[in-house]
Amino acid sequence: MTDTNESKLAEALAAIRDASDAAALDAQRVTALGKQGWVSQLLKTLGGMSPEQRQSEGPRIQSIRAQVSDAIVARKSEIDAAALEAQLASETLDLTLPAPDAPRGSVHPVSQVMDELAEIFADMGFSVATGPEIEDDWHNFTALNMAETHPARAMHDTFYFPDRDAEGNRMLLRTHTSPVQIRSMVAQGAPVRIIAPGRVYRSDSDATHTPMFHQIEGLVVDEGIHLGHLKWTLETFLKAFFERDDIVLRLRPSYFPFTEPSVEVDVGWKDVKGRRVLGGDGDAPGHGWMELLGSGVINRRVIEFAGLDPDKWQGFAFGVGVDRLAMLKYGMDDLRAFFDGDPRWLAHYGFSPFDQPTLSGGVGARA
Ligand code: PHE
Repeated sequence: MTDTNESKLAEALAAIRDASDAAALDAQRVTALGKQGWVSQLLKTLGGMSPEQRQSEGPRIQSIRAQVSDAIVARKSEIDAAALEAQLASETLDLTLPAPDAPRGSVHPVSQVMDELAEIFADMGFSVATGPEIEDDWHNFTALNMAETHPARAMHDTFYFPDRDAEGNRMLLRTHTSPVQIRSMVAQGAPVRIIAPGRVYRSDSDATHTPMFHQIEGLVVDEGIHLGHLKWTLETFLKAFFERDDIVLRLRPSYFPFTEPSVEVDVGWKDVKGRRVLGGDGDAPGHGWMELLGSGVINRRVIEFAGLDPDKWQGFAFGVGVDRLAMLKYGMDDLRAFFDGDPRWLAHYGFSPFDQPTLSGGVGARA
């Protein structure tokens, strides 16, 4: 080994030790170990040496290469560690600071009311069932005692699909949640006790009607069910929902093809003493009552359509407008705003996701 090489090595090691950042270190690496670097050139001289020379010079030159590359690796890890230290020092994070004001979502009143109803009915032993929004003619109408020619079909302003399904059924957007009655009885038999929340569709639109709205269906099938069970259930549910005992209900005889007898239920804006008990548009003339739900004792033909024996099984059913329940309880007066998605409306009428309704905590959300 020549002195030149010794001093070149000493110089290189010093320069590597002095490299202040990754770029400076890399420049040193190129100078020594790059293709044109002096250590690489030195390695190439081995080819022209005699075997004896190579015996003595080989290990020396290899040792120079190893010392340089070891020095580079060592300095590299020092530089990286220093960079990490600097980063940690500059990016302090104070975990004791309050959380930043992040954008907050809210639970839509429709979802909130559905959760409240699920809680109230769970307490009465009802489970939650669902059915498809794209329904066939048989479940939506025929099995509910509305044959093809039944005049009640015209009342529903149905959205039909142009094509039939594989079995030739006419398809439609369900006009009510009542087809879930049929699906539940067919699937579970009897006894059955379910509520079925969901979207329904009718071609209709003004301040109190939108083409899509929400219903909750209730269905109880058991032995010896009669109108009294229906009345008690509705009263218990509405008092729990509105969280007051002075709610006034008006039960009117009505007609639905799938219930007999049928009862429509209105809720009054005022109690028996004329005191306002509900929010919303109750002071408008002729608006003392809000129509809330349809119900009745299940027509025995419907029990038969669902494959059960109507001499053994009886039941009651009801269908209630979820949007209307929300308007009454929380005081909105235009249904259309429910579906505009206006963030100001949602911020005002929406609920905290941390405020899940429970019977023990109160089903009404705290403001
Ligand atoms: N499906 C009826 C409607 O949408 C409501 C209803 C449900 C009536 C169950 C009676 C029994 O108007």
